[in-house]
Amino acid sequence: MKGIILAGGSGTRLYPITQAISKQVMPIYDKPMIYYPLSVLMMAGIKDIMVITTKEDQPNFIKLLKDGSQFGINIEYKIQPSPDGLAQAFILGEEFIGNDPCAMVLGDNIYFGNNFKNMLVNAKEYAENGKASIFGYQVRDPQRFGIMEIDENQNVLSVEEKPQNPKSDYAITGLYFYPKGVSEMAKQVKPSKRGELEITTLNDMYLKNGNLRAELLGGGFTWFDTGTIDSMMEANSMIRLVQTNNGKIISCPEAIAYNQGWIDKDTLLEAATLMQKNDYGKYLFKVAEKNKSLKLEK
Ligand code: G1P
Repeated sequence: MKGIILAGGSGTRLYPITQAISKQVMPIYDKPMIYYPLSVLMMAGIKDIMVITTKEDQPNFIKLLKDGSQFGINIEYKIQPSPDGLAQAFILGEEFIGNDPCAMVLGDNIYFGNNFKNMLVNAKEYAENGKASIFGYQVRDPQRFGIMEIDENQNVLSVEEKPQNPKSDYAITGLYFYPKGVSEMAKQVKPSKRGELEITTLNDMYLKNGNLRAELLGGGFTWFDTGTIDSMMEANSMIRLVQTNNGKIISCPEAIAYNQGWIDKDTLLEAATLMQKNDYGKYLFKVAEKNKSLKLEK
């Protein structure tokens, strides 16, 4: 299974801030925004990841994430020459994806909540068995998002991109799992009125083939699309609050990698030492210690 993080776009909604820096490397509380979607793919068990960015921003992402080996994963980079829609990612990534299933997460989407890992692992298994998954979250302003209509058994009845009269208030969040062959499907997507290859059109193709399923991110779950300064501020406060209360670091790639068995203790401690002056580093030391004591108990 492959994974794509789509971190393109010029971030014009955040000007002047994003005139000199890409939105997805800006902080959400104590870590760069892209750590959150990266952690989602890693929690799903995906180790081969392509980061798609603009040409101008690519060097910063390479500086930050390198080849991924510090997280026990492989990261490749690809340029999106112009922002022609989310479904374009699967055409740009055709060679990288090959004959594998592929997940995609948007570089500015933040998820956290109960049971998420199980949902992700489940979606990955469905994708390996020919079914695509989308993730719904109830919102106040459904006109702003892709919307899914579902029946009482959670079957998807329809998907629409930013409808004027939404059939439900379940937004389709920026996380998608597709079976093998998604690049071929994406090539059949026709540009929308706004001239983009819409992910919703791709999802509709899977729906029409009977191969689209939905997971609902229920009560207690938090999802942010941090495209505006206010949503970024909200996400900052929320992550700070949760981390301060429970003493854990949300979406910490080093900790996820260690718990997945993808990096050894020395690599974890190396990262911890680099950041020992702050709570992020201290948390990594705790993760290393905790697993040691677990091993001793055996
Ligand atoms: C995109 C998708 C939309 C989805 C949203 C989630 O919208 O087109 O279906 O609900 O991401 O963040 P955009 O942010 O490009 O307007």
